[in-house]
Formats: sequence, structure tokens, C-alpha cells
Amino acid sequence: MNVLVVGGGGREHAICWALRKSPRVERLYCAPGNGGITDIAECVNIKATDIDGIVRFAKTKPIDFVMVAPDDPLALGLVDELEKAGIRAFGPHANAAIIESSKVFSKLLMKENNIPTAEYKAFSYLDDAIAYIKEKGAPIVVKADGLALGKGVVVAFDVETAINAVKSMMLEKKYGNSGSNVVIEEYMTGPEVTVLAFTDGKTIVPMLSSQDHKRVNDHDEGPNTGGMGAFCPSPNYTPEIAEICMKTIFLPTMEAMNKAGRMFKGVIYFGLMLTPSGPRVVEYNARFGDPETQPILSLLETDLLDIFEAVVDGRLDQIDIKWRAGTACCIVMASGGYPESYEKGFEISGLESLPKDIVVFHAGTARKDSNFFTNGGRVLGVTAVADTLDAAVVRAYDGVQYIRFQNAHYRTDIGRK
Ligand code: AMP
Ligand code: GLY
Repeated sequence: MNVLVVGGGGREHAICWALRKSPRVERLYCAPGNGGITDIAECVNIKATDIDGIVRFAKTKPIDFVMVAPDDPLALGLVDELEKAGIRAFGPHANAAIIESSKVFSKLLMKENNIPTAEYKAFSYLDDAIAYIKEKGAPIVVKADGLALGKGVVVAFDVETAINAVKSMMLEKKYGNSGSNVVIEEYMTGPEVTVLAFTDGKTIVPMLSSQDHKRVNDHDEGPNTGGMGAFCPSPNYTPEIAEICMKTIFLPTMEAMNKAGRMFKGVIYFGLMLTPSGPRVVEYNARFGDPETQPILSLLETDLLDIFEAVVDGRLDQIDIKWRAGTACCIVMASGGYPESYEKGFEISGLESLPKDIVVFHAGTARKDSNFFTNGGRVLGVTAVADTLDAAVVRAYDGVQYIRFQNAHYRTDIGRK
């Protein structure tokens, strides 16, 4: 089968890496891909958001199966357009991807279906938002309605910070139209866990749990990023908690989407907080997380293409998904300055001398001949698998020590909290 993966980050490198192990994948393409992905797939220079360009490419190649990984082409309806063109595609339709692309939508879905989450109110007028913040007081959380690369969230510990956040979203349009509407919600506490699940709209099968590290610096300091490192599974996610989540969150979410006429097929991402009153939803995403996917797929034993096809064909109940024992850890090496401004184009050295058991997923790299250069905020995801969390963390950091590029920044406390 000829398969196309849409996207070009570390997550897509991990997806291509897992698909490469499938004997049924003949030619593997990635659009646009990145420097590292060129090792295992043919990268084609089409942007993930170029819906017409991707559909045209898939039709003429021809491609038998397309996996759409990032949020924005999903929200733009790439899966819908591919299906119209007769091409099988993995990922939610636009009307279901809204669970990520609109927080106003997802919060209302949870409220109407009694799915546990933070209390909230949605606003489209600045004055009302400010009045609400003053009424509720701090700590309080301000979120832009739309997609903002995981950065449109401000956890404010005083009223002034919260008011400045709504002003920058609603007046200064820091996140463009994503901030025209805002959600203001209750501050929750507790460990955070991510659970991704495959669903075909009838069956929902959680993957192993994972934990992301969103802040740019050690001790969870500095601004939020797309994610600076992750490990899988999370020791906080016990079988008892998993059972509660299935009953109170996962199944109700799938059913609520069906009831709303927005059947969700693909990977649904549950960002959870294990609060003193039980697990609650922090956010939904309509796709694999990045970097969570890198450690998760490192532990997957089942053929990923088999799972993708079962989801698309609505027979997820017939497939047995197996995981290897142990823990996987991924350390993100980023460009100094990320998530704000940073320089690109620095040569990366040391990749060729890495021990064989360490896998480096490229996020933002470009390739010239056999040399790699930095080409994004998040550059590499250095990933190791071991029997225990501690051992996986140590081994992943061993890998980091081999790699050098100018202004490299990484956290030194991934998995060590
Ligand atoms: P989100 O993009 O919605 O996942 O938010 C980014 C991060 O902000 C989360 O991973 C949490 O650490 C934090 N956060 C979001 N919502 C809340 C909340 N209601 N209470 C406390 N922390 C939150
Ligand atoms: N790592 C968080 C995300 O993918 O949204």
C-alpha cells in the first residue's frame, strides 16, 4: 500500500517510523516531512494546510491511505476532502475536529453531558470577561477559544495577569481570531496525565498513558510550549483511575459526539488532571500529541497501519492492541529562545555516533546531503526505552549528551518530578 502521512514534526517522524515496520506499507510519503523523516519516507514539499495540494498529490500518485496528524488540516477538513476524492483517510472530519479547535464548543459539550471539567464561562465581550475575572478572583485560567499552538492558555495567579491575558487575546489579537472568544475557567490542581485513545465512533481504546512537560524550563518555569519532553506510561495513572476515566470521561465523550451528530474517528487526546475530586478534563485534542506520540509509539507492538485501517473501517472492536512492558522517555532538544523567537540553520552534530537503542525523532530539522541543520523551535526528540521510568530517563539523557548544536536548549528534569 502507498501511504501518505501529513505533517512534519517529531510526532510525524514517530508515526512514519512505526508505519515503516508494517510489511504492508510499500511506499511511504510525508508532506511536508522534515530532514530526519527523509531517512524513512519520501518527503514532498506540500504544506500540511494546503488542502487542495495534498488532495491533488494523493489522487495523482496515487496514494491508498492518508494519515492526517496535525490539528490545523483536520480543522480545515482535509479528511472530508480526501474522502470526497475517494481516498481513505485517518483522522476526524472537520465537524468532529472542532472538539480541539473550539474550546467554547468542547466546554459546552462537557457541561451538557456531565463530563467532569473545570467550571467556566465563555465570553465574546471584553468588559464581561473582565467583570467575571473580578467577580471570581485569582487563581483563574484564561483560554483563547481557537487553535494557538498550545500557547493560548494563561494560568493567572492574580487578577491583573488574568485581565492582561484577556486584553491581549481580545484586543491585541495575540492569537489572531483564535482569541475573539475566550473561556475563563476555574483553576484546578493535581497531577496531569495524557491519555490518547483510538476510536472509530463505536469503540474507544485508550493507548498507554503519558505525561508531557509543557513549560520551557526546569521546575515547570517559563512560558508554555508545545511540549518539552514526555514519558509513557504515567505511574499516576492506576488501573482504578483508568476505569473511572473510561466510565466518566472517555465513553461519555464518544457518545456525546455521536449525539451531537459529530462522530469522532481517529485519535482523541484527553488532557486530564487528577484532582482531589477525581479525574477531570483539562483539554481535548483531535489528534496524536507531540511529543507524547514519540514515547507511546516506541512501546506499541501492534502494526500501526492495521489499527489505522480498523479505525477508518469501523472495526476497531476486532483488533487487539498490544504494548511492550517498560517505560519510554523522550527529551526534546529545542532552539534557544523557543517558544518565542529563535535562530535556525545551525548544524547538528553527533547523530551518527548515537548508541543503537536510542531513537532520535526529528521535529524541526532540514537536511543537506548527509548533514542536518536546525529548522524549527523544537528540533529533536531523543527517545529511549527501558524497564523502569528512572532507567528510561537516564538512558534518554545519555543520548542527549551525544548531540550538539548552537543554542541547544532542553530541560534536565523530564520524568524526574
Ligand atoms: P491546555 O492547552 O488547555 O492543555 O492548557 C495548558 C496547560 O495549562 C495545561 O497543561 C495545564 O497545566 C494548565 N491548565 C489549563 N487549564 C487549567 C485549569 N483549569 N487549572 C489549572 N491548570 C490549567
Ligand atoms: N503535547 C501537547 C500537544 O500535543 O498538544
